[in-house]
Amino acid sequence: MPKENIRDKGNGTAKPAVNGRAYPITEHVYDVIVVGAGGSGLRATLGCAEAGLKTACITKVFPTRSHTVAAQGGIAAAIGNMGHDDWQWHMYDTVKGADWLGDQDAIEYMCRHANEAVYELDHYGVPFSRTEDGRIYQRPFGGMTTEFGEGPPAQRTCAAADRTGHAILHTLYGQSLRHSAQFFIEYFAIDLIMDQDGACGGVVALCLEDGTLHRFRAKKTIVATGGYGRAYFTCTGAHTQTGDGNAMVLRAGLPLQDMEFVQFHPTGVYGAGMLITEGSRGEGGYLTNANGERFMERYAPHAKDLASRDVVSRSMTIEIREGRGVGPEKDHIYLHLDHLDPKILHERLPGITETAKVFAAVDLRREPIPVLPTVHYTMGGIPTNYHGEAYTLKDGNPDTIVPGLLSIGEAACVSVHGANRLGSNSLTDLVVFGRAAGLRCGETVERGRALPPLAKDADEFALSRLDRIRHAKGGTPTAALRLQMQKAMQNYCAVFRTGEVLEQGVAKITDIWKGSDDLSVSDRSLIWNSDLVETLEYENLIVQAATTVVSAANRQESRGAHAREDYKERDDVNWMKHTLAWADLETHSVRIDYRPVHTYTMTNEVKYIEPKRREY
Ligand code: SIN
Repeated sequence: MPKENIRDKGNGTAKPAVNGRAYPITEHVYDVIVVGAGGSGLRATLGCAEAGLKTACITKVFPTRSHTVAAQGGIAAAIGNMGHDDWQWHMYDTVKGADWLGDQDAIEYMCRHANEAVYELDHYGVPFSRTEDGRIYQRPFGGMTTEFGEGPPAQRTCAAADRTGHAILHTLYGQSLRHSAQFFIEYFAIDLIMDQDGACGGVVALCLEDGTLHRFRAKKTIVATGGYGRAYFTCTGAHTQTGDGNAMVLRAGLPLQDMEFVQFHPTGVYGAGMLITEGSRGEGGYLTNANGERFMERYAPHAKDLASRDVVSRSMTIEIREGRGVGPEKDHIYLHLDHLDPKILHERLPGITETAKVFAAVDLRREPIPVLPTVHYTMGGIPTNYHGEAYTLKDGNPDTIVPGLLSIGEAACVSVHGANRLGSNSLTDLVVFGRAAGLRCGETVERGRALPPLAKDADEFALSRLDRIRHAKGGTPTAALRLQMQKAMQNYCAVFRTGEVLEQGVAKITDIWKGSDDLSVSDRSLIWNSDLVETLEYENLIVQAATTVVSAANRQESRGAHAREDYKERDDVNWMKHTLAWADLETHSVRIDYRPVHTYTMTNEVKYIEPKRREY
């Protein structure tokens, strides 16, 4: 059997008990553990393994089923295959797209390193689409321009047809195995192991297949568990997208950052939510209202359908609100691709051609697709620097590094996306910062150093929570609470927001959160217990829903994806700052503080980009 397939059996078993019930737990020791096997998790796993570190990746789904597999349109990098491009133009677009809430040192890092990250992917074997002369094909995407926003749209998004995430994920998984990283597949991480000094020493996880418990100890723990779109009723994300790492961080007493910024993708399939890539508009698709009007020309005269996502989603919502939606209930919009050459659909958009057929019964060579803005991405998450190291606020310093803890990908808030992420910058973020975390661990982990002994009760927090949920005997099934939460978030924390509606949302979500005390779980086993896992996931979601709606009610301005009708303008004087939010599990309340935005760059080669009005 090849070395990489030999399952690490662990170093020994302890038998802690909770409420008189024994929970035998097997210990595993690594240099680095990565929790999550999406694009960022796999890139970090590969980087750490390549650096010779003993590395394990713990994932609740099979790696190639992680949600990155659904990323369609591509990965932004100014490699300039379709015309002159420059990483500094990419940086400008990202700062502007983020509505000046992004940290410019981190944005410089991402855009500066995007090209090499893409070439590495190419060399690892990602099957990018090609130009006639064999170079990586690039398409236009929303908000990506040339000449610091003054030139025509950039063709910057490197694509593997409309299945770019799929191609990247399969390649990175293969490469990680090649470097002998260990994978613990279908292991659900329950909680972080934190010591008395606030350092992270690993995680406790449940093996879903056989119900065994595992303590993974490591010098560095990298949280790469993705976003939490499933806090909402309709989203483009997989049902597994429950932000498990973010919730573990909140339970460890650490803050999440900028949770109020939730991105609605303009083109989710109406009624079903599946993603129709922005790459479809990059290839020439356009939106129309009930009058057949290409209304984006009114809202974004320059960029039109390729304006930034928040702008397009708001414009669509206004059209619907003002009675110009399509369909019998005038409650959605049409996306036209029926004018495109069928060859383009076949070669560059085969995935969405199928999605439209299966989920909307539309032959997109002949008919428009009914679409609606749909929750797609959560800009907020675990605050980090551009090496992936997690920040907390300590002794007045909001950039205090949490020893042993890193985070990357959608779970993290680096923050390169600020108040609004540009389409195709997500895959860039995953790969660049996954790579950065691997490099950082390679530099900082002391090989051969033994881990200090653990406190006797190190697993107690995780095991007690597991036991409480497993034996919950209340009156409300998890599914009922989850549905209430998802509907409340959809209705009270949507594309447009007002203080009054958000405060109602805070009250509703707090009530639902308190209702968790009345949870009922009917299956008490530990083996493939979906009732138990869905309840663990629900507990993860509700704390993120609470931090999101409280942060949104708190921010009295409009910026990026956070559009307040009662505070219509961006207010740089009072609000150009990151929100930090902590969850108090006892009182079901959220505490807010702030972190300054990094208004400086990483090097002197580029200057800080001064705020200005954001128009497309
Ligand atoms: C899309 O293809 O539209 C999604 C890609 C992204 O969110 O970056």
